[in-house]
Amino acid sequence: MEEENFEIELQNIRKVYGDLIAVDNSSFKIRHGEFFSLLGPSGCGKTTTLRMISGLEEPSEGNIFLAGEDVTYKPTYQRNVSTVFQDYALFPHMNIYENVYFPLKMKKMSRREADPMIHQILDLVNMGNFEKRLPQQLSGGQRQRIALARSLVNKPRALLLDEPLGALDFKLRIQMQKVLKDIQKDVDITFIYVTHDQTEAITMSDRICVMKDGMIHQIGTPDEIYNSPATQFVAGFIGDMDFIEGRADQVSDGEVVVAASGSKFVACRAVGAIRPGDPVCFCVRPEKVHILEDGEEDGRYINRINGKILRVVFRGNDFEYTVKAGDIEIRLIVPASGTFVRVVGDTMKIGFKSEDVIVYSYEGQGCHDEQKHAG
Ligand SMILES: Nc1ncnc2c1ncn2[C@@H]1O[C@H](COP(=O)(O)OP(=O)(O)OP(=O)(O)O)[C@@H](O)[C@H]1O
Ligand SMILES: [Mg+2]
Repeated sequence: MEEENFEIELQNIRKVYGDLIAVDNSSFKIRHGEFFSLLGPSGCGKTTTLRMISGLEEPSEGNIFLAGEDVTYKPTYQRNVSTVFQDYALFPHMNIYENVYFPLKMKKMSRREADPMIHQILDLVNMGNFEKRLPQQLSGGQRQRIALARSLVNKPRALLLDEPLGALDFKLRIQMQKVLKDIQKDVDITFIYVTHDQTEAITMSDRICVMKDGMIHQIGTPDEIYNSPATQFVAGFIGDMDFIEGRADQVSDGEVVVAASGSKFVACRAVGAIRPGDPVCFCVRPEKVHILEDGEEDGRYINRINGKILRVVFRGNDFEYTVKAGDIEIRLIVPASGTFVRVVGDTMKIGFKSEDVIVYSYEGQGCHDEQKHAG
């Protein structure tokens, strides 16, 4: 079999600043044309990783390869990668045309030669009519497009984007996410996209690398990350999740029974080595929790809770109920249409399937700490 040539490869990268380990033992391979995101809470090492790939920072240990070539100690200008920063970094005194010409000028390209390239790239980002304007005469989204054009006009091997939509309001952000995806398809360039917004990462990426405290927790497709989170942290950081603390009661092949607040729960999936008696955390997505109507005997919902409604939140399309039973608090999402609305204090029977439950061996910090990082 022919060995696959990766566009970007990190091998055991470590970066320390004094006593602080900003990035630890980081390894991944990115294919040509992939949209690869680095996702994680503030301070987890996303920007540091990006800066090492672009050559703005040297790793303390490990190696970086671009198209198979070891570039670990090569300067930025020899790497053929471009970076887009959150604040765009356009030159305020230059008009749009000159801003986009700038990287080509640095390469000693004549205006004559550069001109068609500049027009092509400005058309691509839909800013062809803005050549004469100064950056301050543009909106945030327009400036972001120019920053993109300037980074792409060089035809880089890879484009590194550090929270490029962070300064935009919500609507513009969603719009620019689509623009970015479309542009990436058109130019066929590898994108590494840094964000701490899990929704953005899920909707845009081919693969996501989830980081925390400088460590990689999981690398996978959005589907893998969402449906099979590799650690308790990923489970809490991506999407909405209910966590319950308990103790493993029985462990067998393919099934763990957990005791929590006087009840037993069955899970079909377990992560880590779990033995009977171990403290564990188990989790289920709120949209996988169902209301069991009186007298309903649906055997699929093997895990059942009989509790009282603690909170009701109307969210437009659906209701979020929080049900409390003993020490357990669980949220569930129910479509608003056609449901009978229940109120705080009502009793509610809820159930969820064993295949929707994942058990993690207790990471020694409480299940609910993980949720604080989310959102
Ligand atoms: N030049 C530096 N000197 C010392 N510490 C640094 C330096 N740059 C980054 N750090 C530290 O390294 C860690 C990782 O920082 P980094 O900027 O990579 O985080 P990040 O994931 O990009 O966070 P954010 O989402 O807030 O941008 C942080 O604890 C940060 O304080
Ligand atoms: Mg950062």
